[in-house]
Amino acid sequence: MRTKRLFLIATILISSAVTIFAAMPKDTIRTAIPADSIKMGNALYVKNCARCHKLKDPGKYTMAKWPGLVNKMQKRAKISDEQKALILTYLATAAKK
Ligand code: HEC
Repeated sequence: MRTKRLFLIATILISSAVTIFAAMPKDTIRTAIPADSIKMGNALYVKNCARCHKLKDPGKYTMAKWPGLVNKMQKRAKISDEQKALILTYLATAAKK
């Protein structure tokens, strides 16, 4: 009886966690992943975003501007959506306030 109830509680908890994640935009989930993602994003930024022009200072734009700019550059830089998300994760830590 007790086991059954615990099982029921666990099932409810798991399914609500899944619902929460499903309701979150993918980018939000990614930006919630810490340190290593920022390092990877920084490496991707340096590697892919300084080929045609000098590396832009992340502090030059706010996060209201960066996603649009990176979207515009995505095709040019030939980066995947995942790489773009990591770059934005890094930029979010260094953008103009
Ligand atoms: C294939 C060449 C190329 C690559 C790679 C590239 N860019 Fe650019 N970028 C340009 C050119 C050309 C311009 C200037 C013309 C324009 O704004 O469209 C520019 C302009 C910009 C600007 C200024 C835009 C504005 O409106 O003032 C930003 C910011 C920028 N790039 C960011 C990036 C980032 C971030 C990356 C990496 C994801 C990147 N660029 C990769 C070619 C490139």
